[in-house]
Amino acid sequence: MDGMAHGGGGRHDGDAGGGGGPAGGGYTIVDLAAGGGDATEQAARLLVEGFREHWPDAWPDIAAAREEVAEALADGGRIARIAVAGGTVLGWVGGMPMYDGRVWELHPLVVHVDHRGRGIGRALVADLEARVRERGGLTVYLGTDDEAGMTSLAGVDLYPAVWDHLRGIQNLRRHPFTFYQKMGYTIVGVVPDANGFGKPDIMMAKRVGGAAAGEDGPSR
Ligand SMILES: CC(C)(COP(=O)(O)OP(=O)(O)OC[C@H]1O[C@@H](n2cnc3c(N)ncnc32)[C@H](O)[C@@H]1OP(=O)(O)O)[C@@H](O)C(=O)NCCC(=O)NCCS
Repeated sequence: MDGMAHGGGGRHDGDAGGGGGPAGGGYTIVDLAAGGGDATEQAARLLVEGFREHWPDAWPDIAAAREEVAEALADGGRIARIAVAGGTVLGWVGGMPMYDGRVWELHPLVVHVDHRGRGIGRALVADLEARVRERGGLTVYLGTDDEAGMTSLAGVDLYPAVWDHLRGIQNLRRHPFTFYQKMGYTIVGVVPDANGFGKPDIMMAKRVGGAAAGEDGPSR
């Protein structure tokens, strides 16, 4: 729970489970609960600001975001990790156990708009995977919505050839499914019309532990 990992210049050891001081000039990944100061309020603001453009219904206001953060903290079974530098929260990732802890849902993931493209998202995902592995989890799973026509799965009727649509998926406007693919995640399904007609939820998963997995997982 108190594993600490470090990032600096975009580099990060996602498997770091021990302690140590913050990397100079970089950021540190710690439990949200250990963030101190107004870390929880910053985390809530990140949700509102980070999802506003493409997922405005996710956390429409700060009250909804505060509720999400409070839930993440109140449930001791969850994982909530933040990337911090000098008291500023640069991003956060959450994990919730499913299937008796064999599978963990990654929810949510957000990086501060001013700090994207520096490897922080990658580092947070790697950190979550390490924490899941520590807890004996086998799989990290997530759903990533397309409510704004960002992929070829949006705005069309996915039935009946759902898998043909998935096989031919195109990223039209930097939808994050490509980010997750770069992290080794595989599309394992889709929930058509999850957010209204033509607005699907794309399901992705990655094996992160278990006998069949190498130290870094088989698909990186
Ligand atoms: C998606 C998000 C978490 C990525 O964080 P980030 O810190 O910018 O990502 P990184 O810098 O670690 O990027 C890692 C790789 O993914 C790529 N990538 C990042 N975002 C991407 C996107 N939206 N589409 C395609 N590729 C993307 C990067 O180019 C980089 O590729 P490289 O390794 O080939 O250089 C961030 O953009 C964000 O918070 N977005 C808004 C909220 C969101 O989409 N959350 C996930 C919803 S389920």
